[in-house]
Amino acid sequence: MSPARRGATKRPRTSDPYDGPRRRTAQTGTPAASRGAGVRPWAPPAPVVRAADVDLSVDLAPGRSGGLKLRNPILVASGTFGYGTEYAAVVDVQRLGAICCKGTTLRARFGNEPPRVTETPAGMLNSIGLQNAGVDAVIEKYAAQWATWQVPVIVNVAGESIEDYVEVVRRLDGVPGVAGIELNISCPNVGRGGLQFAVDREAAGAVTAAVRGATDLPLMVKLSPNVADVRAIAKAIEDAGADAISAINTLSGMAIDRVRRRPLLGNTYGGLSGPAIKPVALRIVYEVAQTVRVPIVAVGGVSGLDDVLDFLLAGASAVQVGTALFADPALPVRLIDELAAWCAGQGLASFRDLEGRALPAGRDRPSVKGAEYRP
Ligand SMILES: Cc1cc2nc3c(=O)[nH]c(=O)nc-3n(C[C@H](O)[C@H](O)[C@H](O)COP(=O)(O)O)c2cc1C
Repeated sequence: MSPARRGATKRPRTSDPYDGPRRRTAQTGTPAASRGAGVRPWAPPAPVVRAADVDLSVDLAPGRSGGLKLRNPILVASGTFGYGTEYAAVVDVQRLGAICCKGTTLRARFGNEPPRVTETPAGMLNSIGLQNAGVDAVIEKYAAQWATWQVPVIVNVAGESIEDYVEVVRRLDGVPGVAGIELNISCPNVGRGGLQFAVDREAAGAVTAAVRGATDLPLMVKLSPNVADVRAIAKAIEDAGADAISAINTLSGMAIDRVRRRPLLGNTYGGLSGPAIKPVALRIVYEVAQTVRVPIVAVGGVSGLDDVLDFLLAGASAVQVGTALFADPALPVRLIDELAAWCAGQGLASFRDLEGRALPAGRDRPSVKGAEYRP
């Protein structure tokens, strides 16, 4: 974790692109702006950083032996990049920070009734319903190939009971090619009347703790935005032993088929993703960054470098690209290069200098959220 997240008061650094006006000259210590007109103050030349030398590496499980070390902070989001193999002919997948593969369950699932996707203004709705071949088939078909890749593959795991999650993770544990686990807890908990794990602090903590007990693999748990206050849930997940938190999954939504006068999606409800949800994801990352100390991986509406920078400044250690991939599969690889070039242009030797810089001073200061929501 960067010092910025641990103590957000430590702002001024020589490489900080935001302290320019406050910077004092080496000779006199007086602000350059207050000097006489026409006199060009001497200042040491800004350190030159080449894009190729910018440190983009990040560890998403710094508390775990071996960690989850990525070469860069640009990941692809679960459900939008298959198992990675499908894109190998189109994109240089090995350059990615990591791949979060499609949601994997204990048994095969055929998914929801069609239609399963529809476009919305600035986004899309999906109700795929976790269609997948089941954990054993996924291991058999993909793990051997993942083991030859330099890009880490994080397996996204879903379930309907704590036992489901534990069994899937137990089968993935120790399989070469599986670098880590991402828990999709936005799934109905059959034992609790179908209430999603992600919306209940106790259930979120319980499933995290149970999975933690079943594996030493790096463990990331994915937050749902469909809650009143995500901070208590994030804290419960951290306390239960997660190495990292990803935020956010899709927002619950729906669409109407006006001609047939009924809900458009076969499943009635779907998950909203894409640029439309970025401000929500940003707010949640910002809040969670003030609540937990584990790394946060931002996901929700990333479609350009500005989004990456915003999430890093709000406290994320890395980002995932999801829906934007459907229009532009090369985007994540381009973002890696753009981030390096941007940091170099700012004189930053590491992208981590950005992490959490937009957080309020004093990381434990409570968020102002709540005031905005009061009627
Ligand atoms: C078609 C589709 C399938 C998805 N499947 C999964 C999944 O299996 N597991 C999961 O945790 N998230 C899944 N997601 C959610 C994404 O990983 C991501 O959290 C969400 O789409 C927000 O990011 P985005 O706006 O960049 O797409 C899926 C999203 C889409 C669009």
